[in-house]
Amino acid sequence: MTDVAQALYQDHYPAISKYVDILASTGIEWGVIGPGEVDRLWDRHVLNGAALADLLPEGSTVVDVGSGAGIPGIPLAVLRPDLQVTLLEPLLRRFNFLTQTVENVGITNTSVVRGRAEEHTARYDVVTARALAPLSRLVEWCDPLRARHGVILALKGRSAGDELTAATPVLTRLRLAGEILTVRAHQDAESATVVRVTTRAG
Ligand SMILES: C[S@@+](CC[C@H](N)C(=O)[O-])C[C@H]1O[C@@H](n2cnc3c(N)ncnc32)[C@H](O)[C@@H]1O
Repeated sequence: MTDVAQALYQDHYPAISKYVDILASTGIEWGVIGPGEVDRLWDRHVLNGAALADLLPEGSTVVDVGSGAGIPGIPLAVLRPDLQVTLLEPLLRRFNFLTQTVENVGITNTSVVRGRAEEHTARYDVVTARALAPLSRLVEWCDPLRARHGVILALKGRSAGDELTAATPVLTRLRLAGEILTVRAHQDAESATVVRVTTRAG
């Protein structure tokens, strides 16, 4: 997978490679990533996060809610210097890990904020989330963080269809529409399933 990441990241490959090294060392030591993940850091984490890149308009402001070890926010920020990324994370250990990692990798288009989605008051063009919560709760938390024409991008697995069905009452109440998209970071990368939530037309 490193050849795919190299083809994708090009000049930014040294930075994303440094991030992966940090995940594999400090990330495991601090318990922000499971030891079983070491062999899958590129495909399951970096390339899965980067798969959202084509859905982000040029120059967008992005908040990654419940960023954890920085997925998908950091792979996106490194790949797309045009973005302004905020990593939102309530847990102190993960917040400290993110702050230190952003500084050590030298990522200049990213800030780290400690807090919960429900308490955060800023608004963004794009709200991203992976493994945050079931879609119905995720939408309740993330909709207030969305700018007027903003979008929520929730990275989901095979449960996407069932979660979208279960979230129908919440989407209807908030006048939102959800659709399932299959995207990939690169033609040779694994596909990722995304639920895109936007304001309902009409
Ligand atoms: C399972 S982890 C996923 C981390 C990362 N997004 C990933 O996919 O690897 C969920 C993260 O969401 C955070 N979280 C939980 N509730 C939250 C909330 N209400 N607002 C923001 N983040 C929250 C947790 O602290 C945790 O870091």
